[in-house]
Amino acid sequence: MGDLSARQIVIASHNAGKLREFADLMAPFGFEAKSAKEYGLPEPEETGTTFEENAYIKAFAAASATGLPALSDDSGLVVDALDGAPGVYTANWAEMPDGTRDFGMAMQRTEVAMHERGATEPAQRSGRFVAVICLAFPDGEAEYFRGEVDGTLVWPPRGTLGFGYDPVFQPDGHEKTFGEMSAEEKHGWKPGQPTALSHRARAFQKFARARLGAA
Ligand code: IMP
Repeated sequence: MGDLSARQIVIASHNAGKLREFADLMAPFGFEAKSAKEYGLPEPEETGTTFEENAYIKAFAAASATGLPALSDDSGLVVDALDGAPGVYTANWAEMPDGTRDFGMAMQRTEVAMHERGATEPAQRSGRFVAVICLAFPDGEAEYFRGEVDGTLVWPPRGTLGFGYDPVFQPDGHEKTFGEMSAEEKHGWKPGQPTALSHRARAFQKFARARLGAA
């Protein structure tokens, strides 16, 4: 497996919300972690049908373009009442005709679809956020780390923190939605601490333990 001893890594994302979270998660490890956006790389088309395939497409594109190891995340919201949708297509559900993304509209679309399926009671509104982190090297070698967090879809949206679908997702065992949680509550994790909360932090925790020597 490729090595990370140069302590340089590309964060293969253009998503501002994800980049903020990765910056927080990478902070304790003393890496130079620049984003694909900072390298001026184009966003590759996500043509895969699984989180793993899309995570690989993004990480390998960044690794081959820069010659450095790259870390990507493909993530999404899986709603049980919608047979797993929007899932891998979570970002696509926010796409507007002019190419911009509107997550208020996307959350509404999810809500309308759940209503059409009669999913109005909390027990019928279960779902989870999934994140698959891919670590890829310029020679194509890759490793995957998956994190999930179960919760309930709420309506109306609550909270203005976070990004994407955070305001409609209430993780199990918590009163607040992700949109009402501070960055520290949602994805704060440092080596040696027990399980992190968010899907991304859980996937990152596995990566950090496997490849960065974290406790
Ligand atoms: P992709 O991984 O770039 O295909 O996009 C995943 C989409 O899922 C994002 O654009 C967000 O809308 C949504 N998503 C993923 N993780 C989160 C999260 O932590 N909070 C809220 N929305 C998320």
